[in-house]
Amino acid sequence: MALTQSGPARDGWSSRTAFILAAIGSAVGLGNLVRFPAEAGANGGGAFVLFYIFCVILIGLPVLLSETLIGRHGQAAAPESFRKMAEQSRRSTAWEHVASLGVFSAFVVLSFYCVLGGWVLYYIGTFLGDLFTTGITGGAFAGSSVEEVEGIFPAMIANGGMTVTLDLVFLAITIFFVARGVSGGIEKVAVYLMPAFFLLLVGITIYGMFGGAMGQTLDYLFTFEPDKLTGPVMLAAVGQAFFSLSLGVAGMITYGSYVGRNVNLGVTSGIIATADTTVALLAGLCIFPIVFAAGLAPNGGLGLMFQTLPHAFQEIPGGSLLGLAFFIMVGFAALTSSVALMEVPTAWVIDRFRFTRPIAAGMVTFFAAIIGILSALSTGSLAWFHPLGFLPMFEGMGVLDTLDTFTGKITLPVGALLTSIFVGWIANKRLVDSENGLGGGLHLFWRFLVCWLCPIALIAILLVGIFPSILGQ
Ligand code: PHE
Repeated sequence: MALTQSGPARDGWSSRTAFILAAIGSAVGLGNLVRFPAEAGANGGGAFVLFYIFCVILIGLPVLLSETLIGRHGQAAAPESFRKMAEQSRRSTAWEHVASLGVFSAFVVLSFYCVLGGWVLYYIGTFLGDLFTTGITGGAFAGSSVEEVEGIFPAMIANGGMTVTLDLVFLAITIFFVARGVSGGIEKVAVYLMPAFFLLLVGITIYGMFGGAMGQTLDYLFTFEPDKLTGPVMLAAVGQAFFSLSLGVAGMITYGSYVGRNVNLGVTSGIIATADTTVALLAGLCIFPIVFAAGLAPNGGLGLMFQTLPHAFQEIPGGSLLGLAFFIMVGFAALTSSVALMEVPTAWVIDRFRFTRPIAAGMVTFFAAIIGILSALSTGSLAWFHPLGFLPMFEGMGVLDTLDTFTGKITLPVGALLTSIFVGWIANKRLVDSENGLGGGLHLFWRFLVCWLCPIALIAILLVGIFPSILGQ
């Protein structure tokens, strides 16, 4: 139970550790394991990675603290928490719409995230089947050609019946936990799955260090080539930082609202951001050596995880088992994130309409399924449908890519920008300071970041990133 409750008891994290694990569970997901390596590959490696780390520390972390403190102060769903802080600061309650935008984004991300979760389920099934046919010792997919292994992915995404079914299965697993509540469901899934996830990730990375091409990977990920740092690359990095830290979608406001007063949010934010970034980098260090060792090119995009990697597992002894372990790990990470994504709109429906939790979660699931089906079909029979294709930024993109780009590159950074302006300039300073848990120089530094660096950097990045991208320059 949350420790500061007056009025009817509101569910909350059972301990500080539970909150940290759940927040890390929310942050660590397909964003780290699929999107980060894919974006790094597509945006030229080192320049992207280093700018990404810069964004996490100087922009992401201050916004993460801002979001959790708004939630902890409000002890309510995100828009309500925003409104409380605005009211108590004698400012316009219209600021709550920043959080409404976040709730909307979380819902949109949930709808396509579960489609990707479904793909992961498919690969778990594929490697499991392969383990039975190929056995433990040899490489995966014995006797299949490269074309056949790489062909698994296009065949799967073109199969609408399959992608829709698996999307719905993934949504069903997600609602199973969300419907059980914060301490009874959401926290449980994180407390059990996150440690298992870390063990698997470290194990696979160590395996890659011995067998894989580590030197080449380090070169690729950390060689900074300044001329590659263009506006769109910077926008991609900042968007990725927010996506990965679950920011700009009111997710950390919602999770923060279940935190007790005794928790130091400055410290916990640092732990969450460090864990998330470590996992993203480990994912890079885990995936690229396997890819390089198999003599393959680190092409960006989803093909890296779903085509290049399975092919690489083909070359590796014990590949079926390793592949199975890998995709189970990805599935765990995806589930703790989809649970967080569903919780944001669910908490809002509960607060706003006073529905019970299972009904609220059911409504969110229903609508997420409808939009999700469009995303699931967009890689197959609906591929011709490019909803925003008239804008160069979205040219040639189906529903899934459009929603990913629209949230990752527009609504998340805009939500985070407005949050930093709110906490830095609008909300009452004393109120904010009583929540942030920072002292001395660190406090001043954080103030500088939220008041000046975050808004200015975000506006600049949005300008140099969005306009050229929208205009196609
Ligand atoms: N951070 C998650 C990931 O990296 C995605 C996510 C975004 C989860 C927003 C919750 C809220 O996969």
